[in-house]
Amino acid sequence: MTNVLILGAAGQIARVATRLFLETTDAHLTLYLRNARRLRGLPTDRTRVVEGDVLDAKKLGEAIKGQDVVYANLSGDMEAQAKAIVRWSRLREARGA
Ligand SMILES: NC(=O)c1ccc[n+]([C@@H]2O[C@H](COP(=O)([O-])OP(=O)(O)OC[C@H]3O[C@@H](n4cnc5c(N)ncnc54)[C@H](OP(=O)(O)O)[C@@H]3O)[C@@H](O)[C@H]2O)c1
Repeated sequence: MTNVLILGAAGQIARVATRLFLETTDAHLTLYLRNARRLRGLPTDRTRVVEGDVLDAKKLGEAIKGQDVVYANLSGDMEAQAKAIVRWSRLREARGA
């Protein structure tokens, strides 16, 4: 079973990607978004919703634990977002997690 973290999960393309992951794989999805109320009606046995900002280092770090794939579907300050994501991915690699 693959664990996939989708950042910016309320975004237009993220919604399509989420549907495709659910329809064509057995992956477990963590849907990370700033306002959890924007996602409704997804099967809860394979999805987990985490409310948070990608620039919130603590929350992002918790969400990234145990993930095999991180899909960033973001807009806005891409440089700051990319740095935050890469920082946690490197820390995870260094810990062998
Ligand atoms: N749609 C297209 O046809 C297309 C084509 C080419 C390229 N792209 C690019 O592909 C990317 C995704 O496209 P999209 O259409 O899915 O964009 P979108 O609908 O604007 O989704 C982007 C998501 O990023 C979230 N986000 C922004 N900053 C965040 C942060 N700090 N923490 C957490 N979430 C954050 C937004 O959350 P909120 O909802 O809370 O604001 C939004 O839901 C964008 O960079 C876009 O420019 C899109």
